[in-house]
Amino acid sequence: MEPREFFIEDRLERYRLKAFCNLGESGLSHFTMEEMLSMAGLTWKDLSQIPMYDAPNQGSLALRSTIADLYPGVSPDEVLVTTGTGEALYIAFQLLVRPQTKLALIWPAFQALYEIPKMLGAEIIPVAAESAFHASVWKRIDADLYVINHPHNPTGSTFSQLEWDALLQEFQSQKKTVLFDEHYRFLPKGGGMGKTGVHPKHRFYGTGSFTKCFGVTGLRVGWLIADAEFIKRARSFKDYLTHTVNPIAERIALGLLKEKDSFLPVIQRRVQNNIDQFSLVWKDLPKTELFTSPEGGLVGWLQIQKGISSEEYADKLFERTGVFVLPGSNFEMEGYLRIGFGAKEDVFLEGIQRWKECRDLI
Ligand SMILES: Cc1ncc(COP(=O)(O)O)c(C=O)c1O
Repeated sequence: MEPREFFIEDRLERYRLKAFCNLGESGLSHFTMEEMLSMAGLTWKDLSQIPMYDAPNQGSLALRSTIADLYPGVSPDEVLVTTGTGEALYIAFQLLVRPQTKLALIWPAFQALYEIPKMLGAEIIPVAAESAFHASVWKRIDADLYVINHPHNPTGSTFSQLEWDALLQEFQSQKKTVLFDEHYRFLPKGGGMGKTGVHPKHRFYGTGSFTKCFGVTGLRVGWLIADAEFIKRARSFKDYLTHTVNPIAERIALGLLKEKDSFLPVIQRRVQNNIDQFSLVWKDLPKTELFTSPEGGLVGWLQIQKGISSEEYADKLFERTGVFVLPGSNFEMEGYLRIGFGAKEDVFLEGIQRWKECRDLI
């Protein structure tokens, strides 16, 4: 078996560098190397001293300790540093999924969360996003593995604290295995640090990264959190894949995580401003139906009027205005567009103004 094509990737590759206003991306617009080093409290001289050997296979102890500190009760030997969250997910699924494994997840979903399990023979149980953020819904679903992407891509929805506590309680009492994909955890609405469901002792595993939230996707650093035994097996798997993360990326990742409180509030304000602006004008955009403001992360899900092809809408919007969004069809769901909120505020404002003026778009 092999996975089907990754539907969003072709479009992202085609437009991400050409778009005047890139709202197709699920990450914050990128910083330059110079900006990133300053955020990480590093200088060029610091980089020049980095020994170019293979970094430790599991990730450097300093980086694993800093990542572990993001989770209550997690120790560095329960962390595996990976090349992006994508690799962490790939490895986790190799270890957790067997033919006929029943895997439940919020639908629509980031494709890797179900395509790799499907390739491994899993039976996918989609849980509609409209109801998925209520703990009681999950109580009725009998699965071997639950994948909770929170904050959720593509809807930007989150669990309230009450529902979250009930969900964890439910999974724990039923001794369920859960994989939390918390890629957008650094951007909860209202600032601070988002909640985590990870608790290795309960088999609540997690994948994460900071690259999208911090605007440094090119750094390609992510991680997997699980009990030490699971991490040992995962590391062995990684030894056959990327083996190690390069030491330059590891060092910068460490600096960024240590210094995050100095720059994250600015990023959070930018994303919230863009969300607020969009929430004000979405009704004036051509042929739109419904938009619910994201409660976390960097993306939202805009419903368009029935009968319109999301692909045609996205294509025409790009041709006419240079604004790039992803069609719902890329998430196997017609009738929606995924909107990213990570663009610089002036570009974002200009983009939605051009979009708004396009009355005869479709
Ligand atoms: C929910 C989710 N998980 C995982 C990934 C993969 O991220 P990475 O770029 O760190 O491999 C993405 C990327 O968009 C995502 O949205």
